[in-house]
Amino acid sequence: MKKPLLEMLVCPVCLPDEIELKAVITQQHQEDITEGVLTCPKCGGAHPIREGIAFLDPSPQTEAKAASKYETAPVVSSYLWSHYGDILGDPEASSAYAEWAGLVSGGPGVALDIGSAVGRFTFEMSRKRDFVVGIDNSVAFIRAARELMVRGRKPMALRQEGLLTREETIVLPETWQIDKVEFIVGDALALPFRSKSFSALASLNIADKVQLPLKHLQEVNRVAREKEVQFVLSDPFSWSTEVAREEDWLGGKDSGPYAGRGIDNIIALLQGKDRRLLPAWRIARQGHVWWKIRTHANHFELIRSCFVKAER
Ligand SMILES: C[S@@+](CC[C@H](N)C(=O)[O-])C[C@H]1O[C@@H](n2cnc3c(N)ncnc32)[C@H](O)[C@@H]1O
Repeated sequence: MKKPLLEMLVCPVCLPDEIELKAVITQQHQEDITEGVLTCPKCGGAHPIREGIAFLDPSPQTEAKAASKYETAPVVSSYLWSHYGDILGDPEASSAYAEWAGLVSGGPGVALDIGSAVGRFTFEMSRKRDFVVGIDNSVAFIRAARELMVRGRKPMALRQEGLLTREETIVLPETWQIDKVEFIVGDALALPFRSKSFSALASLNIADKVQLPLKHLQEVNRVAREKEVQFVLSDPFSWSTEVAREEDWLGGKDSGPYAGRGIDNIIALLQGKDRRLLPAWRIARQGHVWWKIRTHANHFELIRSCFVKAER
């Protein structure tokens, strides 16, 4: 983990108290802490840094988490293709990440990509801001993103059909500013950062993947600056009781406080409805991006991800 990140971090367990973490560094390579531990003076919690990865998830890695589909090799491979298919020269590659990046204008400050997966949008944002943090609770995704950041390349097995795979290597363009990027393991519902830290934030295709979507938005709101800040949320709103209880969905139902479409309810919340996300946001743009995930050579998922860009 890059050292300058230390001053932004707080204990994710003690939230809403924002308790600074104390670092004990046992190994570092220039500005990169490769082994160490971040401890909380209040709760005594210890968050390790191993092989450069800071583990700032508030709850321990359980078996259920380890069994998440986002930890499996085929899904990591699918996401690597989804994020870097253009770099692999695949004519079927998705332009979704460039389209989402086009929504954010350049400016000062630090950006946060929540649910960054294998990191493409985080790298895209490094062209727009002074520094960018990608956070995800999948260890396999963060490991892959960090490998790209540290080595500039990553070999991968691209599934062809059945058990057949093709070996490919993603090589990042030399012009990408990997020194302006960091990836950490953490929870979108307990972001390990001080309030008002970020000038640009993204929640791409994660609002329907968390247990408490409103809590996710409240965490975005907490760590976002109060002014001169941009937020892009994009989601297919594939609400599912496998992820969240129906009463916690922010749309996709015909009764309750969040009846109707997810995008409309999220826009209303951003605009100040129920005073949940204050100071209120202005809606700058709305639309959709076609996002593609590849399962194997002959099977792709095409997803309409509906976005809103908000500012305040
Ligand atoms: C559908 S994927 C989208 C990934 C990426 N934003 C993109 O658009 O390609 C959802 C991502 O959210 C992550 N995720 C799910 N629940 C999370 C949580 N509570 N905290 C952090 N990340 C989470 C998953 O590991 C996965 O990377």
